[in-house]
Amino acid sequence: MSLEIEIEFTLNGRLTRVRVPPTMTTLSMLREKLDLTGSKLACGEGECGACTVRLDGRTVNSCLMFAVDCDGRELQTIEGLATDAGLEIVQQAFVEHGAIQCGYCMPGMIMQARYVVDHNPDLNGQMSRDDIARGLEGNVCRCSGYTKVLDAVAAVVLEEASS
Ligand code: FES
Ligand code: FES
Repeated sequence: MSLEIEIEFTLNGRLTRVRVPPTMTTLSMLREKLDLTGSKLACGEGECGACTVRLDGRTVNSCLMFAVDCDGRELQTIEGLATDAGLEIVQQAFVEHGAIQCGYCMPGMIMQARYVVDHNPDLNGQMSRDDIARGLEGNVCRCSGYTKVLDAVAAVVLEEASS
């Protein structure tokens, strides 16, 4: 029988306990142990951002992180963004601006976009498209061309600044 370690952490607002092999990645834990398949495996090497989740508020590549390192911490995945009231504002903006093509990169892209907007240094709507692009540079998309992604995030920046 292979060794497994029990860890406990907050996942999308809920206390979660799971047993994982010591070398399992956080991404594999989410997808294979917890049936949360929103976060995607693409490069598996920390280069594309498809697996982006938030750990204690910061974005991380879950393909590079051991699951055991989630113990005692707070994890948020794409499944934790929408509520019963509907899509979260960034998700809604991506839909409204037609930013999604095949969709494979989108869970990670949206998690990173939410982080970028949360860390907007100038919440008067003046965050530039270059600032947004820099914030998203670790998230690779092979089909959207990025323009509509930037449109969507810029719209969120403006909307949150005016609310
Ligand atoms: S799958 Fe994790 S960065 Fe590409
Ligand atoms: S929408 Fe296809 S990879 Fe981004």
